[in-house]
Amino acid sequence: MGFSDPQSLSGKRILLVVGGGVAAYKALELVRRLRERGAGVRAVLTAAAARFVTPLSFASLSGERVYEDLFSLTDEQEMGHIRLSREADLVVVAPATAHLLARMAQGLADDLATTLLLATDKRTLLAPAMNLRMWLHPATQRNVATLRGDGALFVGPDEGEMACGEFGPGRMAEPLAIIAAIEAALRENTLLPLPFAAQGPLAGRHLAGRHVLVTSGPTREPIDPARYLSNRSSGKQGHAIAAAAARAGARVTLVSGPVEIADPPGVATRHVETAQQMLAAVEAALPADIFIGAAAVADWRVEPSADKIKKGASRAPPTLVLRENPDILASIAQRREGRPALVVGFAAETRDVLAHAQEKLARKGCDLIVANDVGAAAGVFGADSNEVHLVSRAGVQSWPRLDKSEVAARLLAYLFEKLAAGQTRRDGDAVMETP
Ligand code: CTP
Repeated sequence: MGFSDPQSLSGKRILLVVGGGVAAYKALELVRRLRERGAGVRAVLTAAAARFVTPLSFASLSGERVYEDLFSLTDEQEMGHIRLSREADLVVVAPATAHLLARMAQGLADDLATTLLLATDKRTLLAPAMNLRMWLHPATQRNVATLRGDGALFVGPDEGEMACGEFGPGRMAEPLAIIAAIEAALRENTLLPLPFAAQGPLAGRHLAGRHVLVTSGPTREPIDPARYLSNRSSGKQGHAIAAAAARAGARVTLVSGPVEIADPPGVATRHVETAQQMLAAVEAALPADIFIGAAAVADWRVEPSADKIKKGASRAPPTLVLRENPDILASIAQRREGRPALVVGFAAETRDVLAHAQEKLARKGCDLIVANDVGAAAGVFGADSNEVHLVSRAGVQSWPRLDKSEVAARLLAYLFEKLAAGQTRRDGDAVMETP
């Protein structure tokens, strides 16, 4: 459970929203325990919470100023509410009262606490505390189900004797149990995808009716029947993009080189080996609304030998004559007819990432380059996460290191916005005006 690690939360930032209930005093102990483990804690009190515990107690225990009022000018000057909600690694609501759960489930933003909860891009962990009948009430249970569906995490409530003398579920989880839940939550990526890219029951089908064409994986260029030229691409990013596009309601064609991962569900996958086969499969799949070239296409092919090249004792090492492969991305981006509205390339670079990406954007004529650093230090090949920069004619947008599936969901949300805004290419105009 991690209780024993004295610095298990070192460097983590917790935004603690304290609701107005008797259990608010336990939130003070939670702050103390979080601080012991190295976490920074910023507390936000609802007006009701401030009647149970004083802001001063939280300020002294957390060592940071405590926030209460949405409309306080100094709060906005020193720390805008958006920043307050974004700087945390995790948002914790303890105690989460029935009223606060109801406001959250409704998406109300009528005070600082609920505004932060709506504006945050991080996951929220809720520790409910209320009378047992309030907890068991269908309205509360509906709200809990809604919040779970939105991705909120819960810890507790516990069963036990309550302040009101009744016995049953409704006691706030103990601070150490909340700490364990915080540690567990922080082991996962706590950054939320944009809501319209949400998965599960609320999935936005924002790409319904669109055809998204994706290339993924390496290509394999035969040298002889036994050998080939290839590269280290795992296909994880391209496949994640195809899967996310399918989840977003698009018809998806994936043209994949040889990879060791499964075909994504709901995606028409064409398996190819060489760059020339990949180009043919891509052309056969047109027209498309969006083309995303995530494959690591081998730049060169070899004139393959029909027979296995033998080394032979006396023979000099063979010379491989390389021929340039067709550039699939450039040929799709530069089509006069049937060009997809958005053409997206990837740039895997080991140095001067942005400069090379900009040059590639111009040279290939695509609308967006998703650039990443694949130097050994970045550990991207085969990894599950990726740190990318979106380079368009309008500028650069850099994203933090994200799971590849999250990069995929966000990229599609981004492209959807571009499509929806009708910023498609016309007569060589800049395609995307905002980075
Ligand atoms: N690409 C392609 N066909 C090729 C080569 C590349 O479609 N023959 C696409 C890739 O899928 C990727 C982008 O082009 O989206 C970047 O390719 P990359 O190989 O990194 O760029 P190059 O043009 O080869 O430039 P360099 O080798 O100098 O990095």
